[in-house]
Amino acid sequence: MNDAGSHHDFDTWQAVAASGTLLDRVAAEKSRTPALLERWRNEFGAELVHIALELCEARRRLVLKWPEASGWIADRSGAEQASSALAATYKANQLRKRGVIRVTDLMCGIGGDTAAFHRAGLEAHAIDHDPFRVRCAAHNTGCAFTEQDIRNHVDDGSFVHLDPPRRDASGKRRHQWQDLLPDPAVLRELQTSVAQGVYKLSPGTDPDEPDLESCHLEWLSEKGRLTQCLAWWGDPPSDERSVVRLDDGWMFRGVPTPDLTHRGHFGAYLIRADPLLERSGLQWTYARSCSSLESVCPGLGLLTADTLPKETGLEVWEVEEVLPWREKKLKAAIRSRDGGEVVVHTRGRAVDPDQAAASLRGDGPNKIHLWCVRVGTPRLGIIVKRPT
Ligand SMILES: C[S@@+](CC[C@H](N)C(=O)[O-])C[C@H]1O[C@@H](n2cnc3c(N)ncnc32)[C@H](O)[C@@H]1O
Repeated sequence: MNDAGSHHDFDTWQAVAASGTLLDRVAAEKSRTPALLERWRNEFGAELVHIALELCEARRRLVLKWPEASGWIADRSGAEQASSALAATYKANQLRKRGVIRVTDLMCGIGGDTAAFHRAGLEAHAIDHDPFRVRCAAHNTGCAFTEQDIRNHVDDGSFVHLDPPRRDASGKRRHQWQDLLPDPAVLRELQTSVAQGVYKLSPGTDPDEPDLESCHLEWLSEKGRLTQCLAWWGDPPSDERSVVRLDDGWMFRGVPTPDLTHRGHFGAYLIRADPLLERSGLQWTYARSCSSLESVCPGLGLLTADTLPKETGLEVWEVEEVLPWREKKLKAAIRSRDGGEVVVHTRGRAVDPDQAAASLRGDGPNKIHLWCVRVGTPRLGIIVKRPT
């Protein structure tokens, strides 16, 4: 999605969606040969075929995150940038918990977030400067809509949701606050003029960004991937941050603390904190809240323990053998386990995992998990397995 807008004509898209004939044919045909495309173009016209192809692709992407989106209208880029039903519903429920009644979705796109707000019983208003997208949002959600630039927003006392595009017209990705469109100053201004709101930002956003100083930061993940960093404003000031794993609802809230004391070597278990904890800077706070976790060495970011941790939010491996990172020794250890495929995990680019996996591959039937890490200067190979 880019700030330059989509340049599509909504009425024509709606006509293609409503007529069904062309769309059904496009959706049913997996092998769209040049000859078939030409036949369709002759029958329906090039523009309608182009729309049907893009709408079909957009819906294919959308239904993966919005199962009920089979009748939605969206361009491909709008579909790609739409929040998933899980993330949008989480936000909608948070708004309800805060007692919000009215929400303005100021950069609504094709209406992923607006749809969840509406379904949660909030009075939602969809706004976008792109005439096509805002009408998509209205079609997809049934909400009131206005075509407007956020620069012209007039505070009406409603809660504000803002999802700035993460790509510009040239396709360049914009992950940091200072790169955001239309301009960080415009976005920042809304924090001062509107009492309560939330920005949906890239999970890679720098948490120490000064413009976000008074916001409560919250990271979301889905299917193992960090998807959004929410910056809520209007709450009482606090240094706390929070993380939520949407798949199972696990969450943690705390104030970032410095690294634990370093043990200098691995014990019986090698432990990696959930990427949400690492990204939010809460891994050491979380580790302190668990029993018996220790840090290994400065800068490594991995934890260790001698007893199996029971807490969630941790990826735990049982250490089988710790070796110097030497090919001959590693190969012998893999052979002694009848190893075949080797999965190499690493931190801080200690090794190229694909190259190492290829050169260490054995002939046996067993899959071997091997970590390559630097503890101090020397590189170590750590053969691990899932705890039983
Ligand atoms: C990332 S998309 C929003 C996706 C949406 N949250 C969803 O779930 O479908 C960002 C939207 O911001 C809109 N936008 C960009 N600059 C804007 C501006 N200055 N004023 C209003 N809307 C703008 C774009 O047209 C785009 O549709």
